[in-house]
Amino acid sequence: MSDLVLSARGLARTYHLDRVDVPVLKDCSLDVEDGEWVAILGASGSGKSTLLHLLGALDRPDAGTVHIGGMELSRASQRQLDRVRAGQVGFVFQFYHLLPELTVLENSMLPAHMPGGVGASEGRRRALDLLERFALGDRLGHRPRELSGGERQRTALARALVNAPRVLLADEPTGNLDATTGAAILDVLSDLHRDGLTMVTVTHDQTIASRADRVLELTGGRLQLDDEAAEGADSKAVVESRRP
Ligand SMILES: Nc1ncnc2c1ncn2[C@@H]1O[C@H](COP(=O)(O)OP(=O)(O)O)[C@@H](O)[C@H]1O
Ligand SMILES: [Mg+2]
Repeated sequence: MSDLVLSARGLARTYHLDRVDVPVLKDCSLDVEDGEWVAILGASGSGKSTLLHLLGALDRPDAGTVHIGGMELSRASQRQLDRVRAGQVGFVFQFYHLLPELTVLENSMLPAHMPGGVGASEGRRRALDLLERFALGDRLGHRPRELSGGERQRTALARALVNAPRVLLADEPTGNLDATTGAAILDVLSDLHRDGLTMVTVTHDQTIASRADRVLELTGGRLQLDDEAAEGADSKAVVESRRP
């Protein structure tokens, strides 16, 4: 049997604003195998960030379940959830969320100190390795405001990976970058994937989908195979035709 890292069933999430209900996710199910890269495509506002936050234990669904590394999150205690968030999941936020007062090295070491993290000395060693690998070895003492967009994103990636998580969840990893910088980030992700990292990326950028093992579409609050979507909209053909 294949090794499932992440499994979601029937996820639903509605936001409540004043007296208006905003149903965003209706019924989302997803299995991610060890070493797999799944890309989720969806228009802006389709609920990609909402879904990724549920998968990463940053938010709770109204209905449905998420299993990470065999643990069902809705049954987990707060303490277990904290440990899953720190140790099993690496999260790259849509807008970096780097702490402005901390340096590149300090930002990327931050999760190492959390319960479930690898600890200060291992965290420092891993952060230095990752930053070197991401060509930030000469930016260790810089603050986020002194970095380019691509450098911020690579710092955020190093932070997400410092605890050697089982799965990387990345929210629009190329979303705020120009095409060249975005392509460089894609190369970094492809590299990590080749080394065996399990990844889920959400994006409205078709080019990122062309690198993934599997592409799903988030539409109408549901996830469907891109193949199915392609029957109607021929979106697979769009992805294919953009392949270099
Ligand atoms: N905290 C929130 N409260 C109310 N509505 C929200 C909240 N977060 C997101 N939404 C709404 O839910 C929908 C999906 O948002 P989001 O998951 O951020 O989509 P995407 O990441 O695909 O752009 C949007 O219409 C957005 O306005
Ligand atoms: Mg989003």
